Amino acid sequence: MTSPQARRPIVAANWKMNTGPDDGAQLARAVSAEDLPLAQVEVVLCPPATGLTSVAEAVEDSPIAVGAQHVYWESSGAFTGEISVPMLTGLAAYAITGHSERRQLFGESDLDVRRKTLAILSGGLTPIVAVGESLDQWDAGETLAVLRSQVTQVFDVLSPEQTAASVIAYEPVWAIGTGRNASPEQAQEAIGWIRDTVAACQGRPAAERVRIQYGGSVSPDNCDELLSRDGIDGALVGGASLDAAQFAAIVRAAVP
Ligand code: 13P
Repeated sequence: MTSPQARRPIVAANWKMNTGPDDGAQLARAVSAEDLPLAQVEVVLCPPATGLTSVAEAVEDSPIAVGAQHVYWESSGAFTGEISVPMLTGLAAYAITGHSERRQLFGESDLDVRRKTLAILSGGLTPIVAVGESLDQWDAGETLAVLRSQVTQVFDVLSPEQTAASVIAYEPVWAIGTGRNASPEQAQEAIGWIRDTVAACQGRPAAERVRIQYGGSVSPDNCDELLSRDGIDGALVGGASLDAAQFAAIVRAAVP
């Protein structure tokens, strides 16, 4: 079994629908100019699709990786507005799936997330599979059931190798963009449930290798207490990732 210490922390910036090609490249250059512990922490920038090319160019001489915020599972064809995994060749090494904004605002289902995750892995990219409960579900005490269902829908159909190569982001919907982060205890408990669910799907060794991030109002003020917790393998950062210095502070807090 891989020891938890063997998991390399990963901090990803989800810029959401912010920045175009020029200001995106400028932000990427500002991030790479920061003093980042890139030997210890994997860093991924996820710009909108129109910024993938310029951001990939801006970080091409650095270990900083690029990720897509969204992909479709088919490779090509009549799917207006969509982007496929093969179209990301040379631009992105990661792709986010299942973000709650896509689930809530664009009707992405668990089955869609499963198909997209499989397509991302088949194309040789690393998926960042986002899961998390809504405020209503949190209030009703349904967090464990929701996480089990969302995780099982995806990880039941992967192989143990695909599972180990994946990244999961635990993002409670009530913590996203609200300034109200989950407490370190809450995040750690939920991430433990997620890892147990992955183990039930693909075995404990694979579950011990999958990296599980926390996301939701991560900031320079709360990153130390969140990222120092055992089992929290990094962060998926929204708002604070639009500021290079703030994002760099979060990356530094992820050093084991
Ligand atoms: P915030 O960090 O702005 O809460 O966003 C979190 C998120 O949704 C990252 O994917």
